[in-house]
Amino acid sequence: MAAPTQATQQTTGNQRFDAEAAAWDSKPFVHAMSLEAWKAIQANVPTVFSNLGQRPDILEIGCGTGLLSLEAAPASNRLVAIDASQGMIAVLKSKLEKPGTPENIEPIAVLLQDPEDMSLPPADESKPDGPRLKFDLVLSHLVLHHIADLKKVLTTMLGCLKEGGMVALTDFEDFGPDARRFHPESKMDGVERHGIPRKWMAELMQDVGFKDVITKVAWEHSKMVEKYPGEFGGGAPSEGQGELMTFPYIICLGRK
Ligand SMILES: C[S@@+](CC[C@H](N)C(=O)[O-])C[C@H]1O[C@@H](n2cnc3c(N)ncnc32)[C@H](O)[C@@H]1O
Repeated sequence: MAAPTQATQQTTGNQRFDAEAAAWDSKPFVHAMSLEAWKAIQANVPTVFSNLGQRPDILEIGCGTGLLSLEAAPASNRLVAIDASQGMIAVLKSKLEKPGTPENIEPIAVLLQDPEDMSLPPADESKPDGPRLKFDLVLSHLVLHHIADLKKVLTTMLGCLKEGGMVALTDFEDFGPDARRFHPESKMDGVERHGIPRKWMAELMQDVGFKDVITKVAWEHSKMVEKYPGEFGGGAPSEGQGELMTFPYIICLGRK
């Protein structure tokens, strides 16, 4: 059988996330990690929030149901939240219909491969078919390990930034063979790599053209993992199953 194309792999991943979208927010883990990511972003790119004279325009790639977007929106001018999964974006849209939610989040279902993709907002509202909006900050949380061609997506991110704009990308670290245990065997669909190797990622970002690149551990978190592959079957661990394992999470910073 021929090797799956990248498009096939991404379609498979989207089906997985479409299926998980409705129950995504029921997992305490995803809330806790989005909060940690938001703390790490604020601590590591404080100038984006304080030096511009106005709140930054933020693009989040792989926003899921918007857990990080909803944290970041009050600190941003506008926040464009994109995800390749229609199901995830539908959940975010339904949250935004509720009173009291930020009004500056623009959810878009797209697999972004081009900074001039017409689904992004125009730079100038009076020229809807003109060049697309550029951002002060691009975020992406727990997404990089799902992307087959990281160089391509980093190039797209660079193209989405204003001159001097920054990326702040968070994901778990590939610290060695045990990093594979982050996902139970039933959740390996759409997983392209078991975390992000810190040094490799820094070199990749420099190759793509980012300046002032830093990749470093930003926090650690203990997660219940399978004691042996497949222990959890297709669902959550039952009583007595699994064991706690600590995973490092990295933040990857770079400037255009
Ligand atoms: C593990 S989920 C994380 C979602 C969210 N960031 C969170 O932490 O709750 C990964 C998300 O990335 C999205 N995704 C994967 N590859 C993508 C791509 N190339 N472009 C946009 N979204 C992508 C998936 O659809 C999925 O919603």
